[in-house]
Amino acid sequence: MVKKATVVVGGAFGDEGKGKMISYLCLKDKPDIVARGGVGPNAGHTVIAKGEKYGIRQTPSGFPNEKARLLIGAGVLVDTDVFLNEIKKLNKFNVDSRIGVDYRCTIIEEQHKERDSGNAYLKEKVMTTGTGCGPANEDRVKRIAKRAENIPELKKYLTDVSKELNDAIDAGKKVLIEGTQGFSLSVYYGSYPFVTSKDTTSSAILSDVGIGPTKVSDVIVVFKSYLSRVGGGHLEGELTDEQIKKSEIWKKIHSLERGTVTGRQRRIAEFDFKLAKNSVMINGATQIALTCLDLLFPECSKVTKYDKLSENAKNYVKNIEEQLGVPITLISTGPELESTIDKRK
Ligand code: GTP
Ligand code: IMP
Ligand code: MG
Repeated sequence: MVKKATVVVGGAFGDEGKGKMISYLCLKDKPDIVARGGVGPNAGHTVIAKGEKYGIRQTPSGFPNEKARLLIGAGVLVDTDVFLNEIKKLNKFNVDSRIGVDYRCTIIEEQHKERDSGNAYLKEKVMTTGTGCGPANEDRVKRIAKRAENIPELKKYLTDVSKELNDAIDAGKKVLIEGTQGFSLSVYYGSYPFVTSKDTTSSAILSDVGIGPTKVSDVIVVFKSYLSRVGGGHLEGELTDEQIKKSEIWKKIHSLERGTVTGRQRRIAEFDFKLAKNSVMINGATQIALTCLDLLFPECSKVTKYDKLSENAKNYVKNIEEQLGVPITLISTGPELESTIDKRK
C-alpha cells in the first residue's frame, strides 16, 4: 500500500494539547518529516521533553524526535526573532541543522504587532494574542507583505516545503503534518468574529504546507475532554465562578488553564457535542485523540492501558466515540509523553 501523510489538527478552540500529542506521535511513529501548518506564532504548543517544558510557537512540535526533518509551510507566518530565539532554546535537540522554512512564508514585522495590540477592536473585542498575525495576513492579502526570502537572517533555513513533502510522500517516507489553533477559531467555520485570521481546518493546514488531499490517509482531530477558550467570544456551557468553586475537579482545571503565549486565564466548559460533531465533519476526521482525561478523572492520571481506566472514564470515552462516530484511538492521561493510551492497530 502507498504510504501517505497523517495530519493532526485541533478540534475546538486551540490548546487541546496538540503539542503533547504530536510529540508523542513523532517519537512513537518516527516520521521522516514533521511539517507545521496553521497561522503562526500566536500558537503556543506545550511540549515536555528531556525533563523540561517548552512553549513552542514556530518550531514543529515533533522536535523531540531528533532524526526528523522539521519544516514550516508557506502558509505559516514567521516572526524572525521568535523563530531564531526558539532555535537557540532548542539547541539540545539539534533543531538548527534540521529545520527548514518555506521561502514563501509571510514575515511578521514590528508594525504588525503594533497594529495588532494597538487596535481597540482586535485587542478588546476579539482579544487577539497581540503577536501581529492578523495584520501580517492582512498585508499578505494586500500583496505588500515581505516573505521569508527577503530576510537575510533566514537565508540558511530557506527551502521549498511543498516539494520536500511531496517528494518524501512519493518515495514512501513517513510524513506528519501538524496544525495549530483549532476548528472553532477558523475564520470561516469558527465563532466569527471571535476567530483567528485564517481557516484552521485540516484542508487549510494541507494548503499551508503544500500537499493535496489525495496525499493524506489519516486526519487525527484532537479534543480536550472538556472545553477551554482564551480570548473573546461565546463558549457554550461556560462554567460560572460559582460552578467552578463548588467542584474540586473544576477548581483544579481552572487553576491549570492559562494561555501558553499570553498567560491569560482560559475559560472552561463541559464537552460540547454539537461543536465536536461539526468539527469532525468539516475536518474529515478518521481518528480522535482525547486529552486531559486525567483532569476529569484524577484516578486515571498517568494510566497507559485502556483496561486500567476507571469504569466512569471508559463510559465517558465510549459516549464521545459513539456520539461522534469516529474512533478515539489516542487518549492522554497527563502532560508527559509517557502518559498516553495508544489504541491504534
Ligand atoms: P495551540 O497550538 O495553542 O492550540 O496549543 P496546544 O494544543 O499544543 O495546547 P497547549 O500546549 O497550549 O495547552 C495544553 C496544556 O495541557 C499544556 O499545558 C499541556 O502540558 C497540557 N496537557 C496536554 N495533555 C494533557 C493531559 O492529558 N493531561 C494533563 N493534565 N495536561 C495535559
Ligand atoms: P489572533 O490569532 O492572535 O488574531 O487571535 C484571535 C483569537 O484566536 C483570540 O481569541 C485568540 O485568543 C485566539 N487564538 C489564536 N491562536 C490561539 C491558540 O494557539 N490557542 C488558543 N487561542 C488562540
Ligand atoms: Mg496553546
